[in-house]
Amino acid sequence: MRSLPCRLGRFTLFDHVGRGGMADIYLARSRDEEAGPRLVVIKELLPELALEPRFLRMLRDEATIASRLVHPNVAHVLGIEEEDGQLFLAMDYVEGIDLRELLGQCTKRKLDLPVRYRLHILCEVLKALAFAHGFVSEDETVAGVIHRDVSPSNVLLAFDGQVKLCDFGIASALNVAAVPAETIEGKASYMSPEQARGDVLDVRSDVFSAGILAWELLQGRRMYRAREGESLIELSRRAETPKLAPRGLPEEEVLFAIVSRALAVEPEDRFPSAASLRLVLARYLENTEQAVTSGELGGWLSEHFAEQKLARRRARERVLAALDRGPAVVLTAIRDSQAGRLAEADGWTNVRRARDAAPPPSAPRDSAPPPPVPRDSAPPQSLRDPEPPSSRGATRPSSRPKRGSPVASGAIAFAVTLALLGLLAKLGVV
Ligand SMILES: Nc1ncnc2c1ncn2[C@@H]1O[C@H](COP(=O)(O)OP(=O)(O)OP(=O)(O)O)[C@@H](O)[C@H]1O
Ligand SMILES: [Mg+2]
Repeated sequence: MRSLPCRLGRFTLFDHVGRGGMADIYLARSRDEEAGPRLVVIKELLPELALEPRFLRMLRDEATIASRLVHPNVAHVLGIEEEDGQLFLAMDYVEGIDLRELLGQCTKRKLDLPVRYRLHILCEVLKALAFAHGFVSEDETVAGVIHRDVSPSNVLLAFDGQVKLCDFGIASALNVAAVPAETIEGKASYMSPEQARGDVLDVRSDVFSAGILAWELLQGRRMYRAREGESLIELSRRAETPKLAPRGLPEEEVLFAIVSRALAVEPEDRFPSAASLRLVLARYLENTEQAVTSGELGGWLSEHFAEQKLARRRARERVLAALDRGPAVVLTAIRDSQAGRLAEADGWTNVRRARDAAPPPSAPRDSAPPPPVPRDSAPPQSLRDPEPPSSRGATRPSSRPKRGSPVASGAIAFAVTLALLGLLAKLGVV
């Protein structure tokens, strides 16, 4: 893990969100001045996973494809980049909680996430999958993207209720031999039998994984549980799905039949696509009057996770403010030193050159250095949108000398001198 804050390419990394099986995850601020400050997530791949050129190429290809998937239910990948031989993905930051954490918290805090919200989340994930499965690139070189890693930790729930699926196709590009065994085991819990066998996959593999998600959302526990001496990958290969225990839900047999069909061992017995699975689930929710909106899910999340959201946001703002303060103090120091030089300067040329090169001094001569920038003040110029060239330099309104400043004093002295010279000339003295 990196020591923070640090720079990586055009990003400033300032918080370590976590470490998955494949990557370290950081929260970062983009230094893309044109787009303005923006929060992003940086996934820095564990170096041992991406060293071989073949996997490196695959990873780049997958990330490039993923970056073309633009959909409200997909966590957008901005791109894959390299800095000092280190590979990393940049993604939009989703301010919220992932489904694995949500379900864990529900168990821990004895919170009951109503089934209608659980199934809504699933339907939103299926929307993302349906979009990716039907995706055709403009040049038609890419047709149909299989996710291959549909699992609760890859389902991100924004606090406003938006549901976003992340990590499209990345798993398939990695060197499986180099992936730690526990990661494979973790991923195996959500694999279709054909994926666990290493067969060629089609979109129905994702349908099976979504079926596992459905099973777990309805039962509130993991579907595959390895016994002593058993491995999860073996269980996935066998695909012996445990029976769903009754929960007294409306038209439960209809719902359970849908889940069982998604979990059929043979792909041809499953729903042919994520879109068709979503359709029957949405119909079930409508028919049983359980359909909800993302806004309603957001309301539930706000009710139960407001404190967490606030605490995280405050912590984040504190770090961001500290980041802002750093360069601001530097800028202030530069400004002070220029103010000092201005005060010493006695010629117009010097005054103008110094004023063009820097913002106007705000402190009078000999004053103490100004205090650090307060937390909620505007970010320093280096972090704001650049100004158009026409507004820079001496013509900037803010560069105008202020009353009482050394620049103003110099100008007044100059004007008085000129007037005196004019008067003396008139009197014939000079
Ligand atoms: N775009 C994002 N916005 C906000 N949080 C994210 C984002 N991407 C990932 N995370 C958080 O970082 C965690 C770790 O992600 P990562 O994908 O590395 O590992 P994982 O999903 O837990 O495991 P795996 O290696 O199987 O993908 C996620 O569970 C999620 O909470
Ligand atoms: Mg992930």
